[in-house]
Amino acid sequence: MTHFDVIVIGAGAAGLMCAATAGQRGRRVLLLDHAQKLAEKIRISGGGRCNFTNSGVRYDCYLSENPNFCRSALAQYTAQDFIDLLARYNIAWHEKKLGQLFCDESSEQIIAMLDAECGLGGVERRMGVTIGEVARDPAGGFTLQTADGVFACESLVVATGGLSIPQIGASPFGYRLAEQFGVALTPLAPALVPLTFHVDDAARFAELAGVSLEVEVKAGKGRFRENVLFTHKGVSGPAILQVSSYWAPGMEISIDLLPGQDAEELLLARANSEQRVANALVEWGWPRRFADAWLLAQGMDVRLRELSPKTRKQLAEAIHHWRLKPNGTQGYKKAEVTLGGVSTRALSSKTMQANAVPGLYFIGEVVDVTGHLGGYNFQWAWSSGFVAGKNC
Ligand code: FDA
Repeated sequence: MTHFDVIVIGAGAAGLMCAATAGQRGRRVLLLDHAQKLAEKIRISGGGRCNFTNSGVRYDCYLSENPNFCRSALAQYTAQDFIDLLARYNIAWHEKKLGQLFCDESSEQIIAMLDAECGLGGVERRMGVTIGEVARDPAGGFTLQTADGVFACESLVVATGGLSIPQIGASPFGYRLAEQFGVALTPLAPALVPLTFHVDDAARFAELAGVSLEVEVKAGKGRFRENVLFTHKGVSGPAILQVSSYWAPGMEISIDLLPGQDAEELLLARANSEQRVANALVEWGWPRRFADAWLLAQGMDVRLRELSPKTRKQLAEAIHHWRLKPNGTQGYKKAEVTLGGVSTRALSSKTMQANAVPGLYFIGEVVDVTGHLGGYNFQWAWSSGFVAGKNC
């Protein structure tokens, strides 16, 4: 049996950050992963350029049973701290819209940087390792049975991520381990995920696949102004991915199709016009295919002068509050993240240690902290990984 001070399970974003931080404190660290390749999610993220953080990280850009939980970690390791780390490795980056920061070249640079940081900490890393039974030793500490042998440690850090994209290594291991040690979980659901149409809407709007327009979408407490993209199966695009984290089965979403404009006023100003309503909406920014299909579905494929005051009001109302009732999501195969996870009530926000199990830590996406789209989830992985790495 080989003994380590710290074993980190999961060599993804949070696990790498934690292992490097603990190793550089002088802890003897073993980093284990069942995947053959290191940090696959970092590699595929941001279209291969990794949206590694956001210049406007705030605690209210995260969903959690306890929205305040993430504050401590985000303050202990900030977006600027990560930017400073990139500077030490001469990794160039740029800001896209809404504060989203991406590598100029490749997400591989982030993986290489974190790997180098682990090297500086003397971290031993083993990939392709199947982990079996994990037991708590009577004297404290943990013993792990693995295909590579038996390992023991004082501190065990669980960084196994969420359930999305099972084809590249996602597994429920972290949730099962939490259950084994009596650490509470909150319900899990795919998030940052496309929503699917009911059959009727699919028949009406499937031909719009590929059409995109700027909208404001609302579901529950979520409200986002971004683009919606129509697909063969339903709706996607940043506005929908964002709002999907606030959507629950059976809920309607409300879409403002002319955000920031007053449709009734615009229609009224042309009340005597021979122009078709569809052509006016195209002038005001709608894609042609969308204007034609949407007005047909509303039974409003008419000329502007044919609108009575009542139908004009109804049309304006429908434009600003188009209600869609999705029948589901595209699931973990297409979700960027998993909502819910290890309950924040069971963890210390200052250290990420389980309150009832000294020496056991949970970090990253396996925890019930889910960020908005735009670099927030990686920032949570860096911050929670750093905090556990300082304390484990
Ligand atoms: P992560 O999933 O990174 O790592 C978990 C590790 O645990 C994996 O290496 C896995 O193999 C390992 N593991 C799992 N089960 C195991 C077991 N049983 N035994 C051993 N090891 C096990 N976020 C963002 O902020 N900006 C972005 O640009 C993107 N882009 C993006 C694109 C796509 C396609 C997806 C799917 C996701 C994103 N994300 C994102 C989200 C981001 O990737 C995610 O939130 C972080 O990777 C979470 O980091 P973790 O380290 O917690 O898990």
